[in-house]
Amino acid sequence: MPSFPKPKIPDAVIPPPLRKPAKPGSAGTPKGQAPSDLKESPERRSAGDKLLEVGKEAPIDALGWVDQRLAASGFLTGMLFRKVPKGTNWFYTLGSATLFAFIVQAITGVFLAMFYVPSATQAYSSIAHINNEVPFGQLVHGMHKWGASVMVILVFLHMGRTFFFGAYKYPRELNWVIGVVLLILTMTMAFTGYLLPFDQRSFWASIVGININGTGPVVGPYLSDFLRAGPELGATTLARFYAIHMLLVPGAIIALIGAHMYLVVKLGTTAPPWVKAERPKVAAPVSQLEAGANGNGRVNGDRAPGAPVDGEGNGAA
Ligand code: HEM
Repeated sequence: MPSFPKPKIPDAVIPPPLRKPAKPGSAGTPKGQAPSDLKESPERRSAGDKLLEVGKEAPIDALGWVDQRLAASGFLTGMLFRKVPKGTNWFYTLGSATLFAFIVQAITGVFLAMFYVPSATQAYSSIAHINNEVPFGQLVHGMHKWGASVMVILVFLHMGRTFFFGAYKYPRELNWVIGVVLLILTMTMAFTGYLLPFDQRSFWASIVGININGTGPVVGPYLSDFLRAGPELGATTLARFYAIHMLLVPGAIIALIGAHMYLVVKLGTTAPPWVKAERPKVAAPVSQLEAGANGNGRVNGDRAPGAPVDGEGNGAA
């Protein structure tokens, strides 16, 4: 198993007591003088200076306090500075873009829920109120409405990337399956959210959607009955769609994204298919060694005694 050099942790995230002191002669310290010699003696500093110093160190001290209790920095450093395969490119950002779209939907959704009324008689007027009277209401509503389409498009593009790069293969099959469930849940969010304004378009589109679900094999009719929540689409349907849209499915999505990310960090990402795997640096088969070959297609006599065999000890990535 190759051992990788440990990534350098930026000084800014290391709590001051754990930082290495600057070398004399570096960072503005004159040669021959320790950095501590330059500091003014504490009694000469004014109370304001001390307060400023405490204020400057406060965020990093607070972080250090939390970190000592959570021991999170080791995990975060490992996650944020992890190695990625050669050839990693912009297509690998589609998963994070989908995650970002989901976070935007969650934040804008919370603000919309403060003003939206999930009632058959008030839903439409509450949306009109958000758009026309609530400060930034139209912007937040617009972000949520267009963001839904953005998330659906991104999730498909991300799925396409993982499919065409072969990332569904061993050992990432489970992450693919989790992804499929995430795709279905994303579509459920888009479908249930569409009814919420309760205008003519959303009303009739939801009837079409529920009827399409009803044509599915075996579970189809049960599913459409469950979604309609009664003989006709009405107030109970709206309440049910709202509960699914803002409680059930987001909870499931958050849990599954957690599992998805855990597997991405644990297994690493797949190299693009056009990047050739490196030849494993294994010992030559015994038969070749007996014949005097060194496993690299050369006989031992071809290299100077003590010189490394090709591919060994040359720091190749
Ligand atoms: C809410 C939806 C989703 C989010 C937030 C999400 C997020 C991510 C992120 C951030 C990564 C790592 C970076 C990358 O490779 O892009 C990733 C990897 C992966 N995702 Fe998703 N994903 C979602 C849906 C899906 C779907 C629908 C599938 C497939 C059906 C899928 C399958 C995978 C696989 C197989 C990997 C591993 C990629 C590799 O090894 O190169 N994901 N996902």
